[in-house]
Amino acid sequence: MSGPIGGGVNVAETDLPKPEGLEGVVAAATALSHVFGEEGRLVYRGYDIHELAGNASFEEVAHLLWIGHLPNRTELDAFCAKLWDNRSLPEGVLTTLRALPADAAPMDALRTGVSAFGAIDHQRFEPAPDLDEAIALTARVPSILAAFFRLRQGKEPVPPRNDLNTAQNYLYQLFGVVPEKRHWQPLQVYLVLLADHGMNASTFTARVIASTQSDLCSAITGAVGALKGPLHGGAPSKVLDMLSEIGAAENVDAWLTDALDRGERLMGFGHRVYKAEDPRAEILRGMAEEASDPDFFALSKRTEDRALEMLAERKPGRRLYTNVEFYSAAVLAAVGLPGDMFTPTFAVSRTVGWTAHVLEQTANNRLIRPQSEFVGRTDKRFTSIDER
Ligand SMILES: CC(C)(COP(=O)(O)OP(=O)(O)OC[C@H]1O[C@@H](n2cnc3c(N)ncnc32)[C@H](O)[C@@H]1OP(=O)(O)O)[C@@H](O)C(=O)NCCC(=O)NCCS
Repeated sequence: MSGPIGGGVNVAETDLPKPEGLEGVVAAATALSHVFGEEGRLVYRGYDIHELAGNASFEEVAHLLWIGHLPNRTELDAFCAKLWDNRSLPEGVLTTLRALPADAAPMDALRTGVSAFGAIDHQRFEPAPDLDEAIALTARVPSILAAFFRLRQGKEPVPPRNDLNTAQNYLYQLFGVVPEKRHWQPLQVYLVLLADHGMNASTFTARVIASTQSDLCSAITGAVGALKGPLHGGAPSKVLDMLSEIGAAENVDAWLTDALDRGERLMGFGHRVYKAEDPRAEILRGMAEEASDPDFFALSKRTEDRALEMLAERKPGRRLYTNVEFYSAAVLAAVGLPGDMFTPTFAVSRTVGWTAHVLEQTANNRLIRPQSEFVGRTDKRFTSIDER
């Protein structure tokens, strides 16, 4: 027999487009956020990100994404009370985190912690995903990370406080002291900037899982796994590694030339959708200049300027610009976080976007099940094991 197994249409024989990496494919309708790649613009539910960054709190943005509008004072107070009262981890999640080796990656600990929360508190997550579940999980993501961060240092987790905002409480649970405004405020702006970003890889992952009518924790566990990769959220700690290897302004050119000669990608540059500067990079650059050590900022700026010049020379027409990850490194380092907590801190924010997308998918669901282009053979015959 030749032809496709099952006698169906071989997609390779049709004229369907086969975009590499699904580039340009519209995978879902969303009213949550949109990336205008040519203009370098990001919009959350009608608000340009420049309107929100520095003006709205992370909680206001979570309300905006989940519920659809910026809250008034009464709504915000009720919303914060609910979010902040949901931070304590079940003992079983803490036991699971205690069982992990101290050298486990924090993203792996987060993936495990979210999955454990879903299994331990499974009755909470049995109905179709709803806002209460989204709040319950989002509130616990920073607690999972902070608990693991302390356990790996041989310290006990710090119980959450329900009188601190998300940025304050995250730093409080990590370091055990109520943070100063100069630390929690840049973190809050970072959390606002990273909360959602169109149909990125981890959000798509969450929506695919939700579309099977699986549970919220499964969708977010998958999303954490997708975010971890360096082509998505795993880049900022590598930016920090790059800057520490470069070490001083006089080494910038040689380091970048060597890396590009070896065919390596420069972390913190390039984007699938933005063909102009990522607006989040512009805001984070300003924050990094204010918040980070002046020598570190000068090295970052020199590296960025030369990287942009070299990428324009070597990849003409590719339009490679600074992305969000480049200055995330400087801002998160200035806030006191070590490199391996950068991507997990991205997840603290993006859990809002992921869960909002799961709710949106659930409200108007159809199973996401694309086709593949079959490039294999269809004509083989079975032979017994002794004949092979
Ligand atoms: C983000 C990213 C994955 C987007 O990838 P993409 O849309 O699939 O783009 P492509 O892989 O098709 O790259 C297009 C071209 O630009 C080059 N390119 C893209 N990003 C580059 C980078 N950061 N450094 C060097 N070259 C880069 C590719 O090598 C390719 O060149 P070629 O056509 O000569 O082979 C990519 O830009 C990248 O790897 N950036 C570095 C990692 C990073 O910062 N990730 C965080 C993203 S927010």
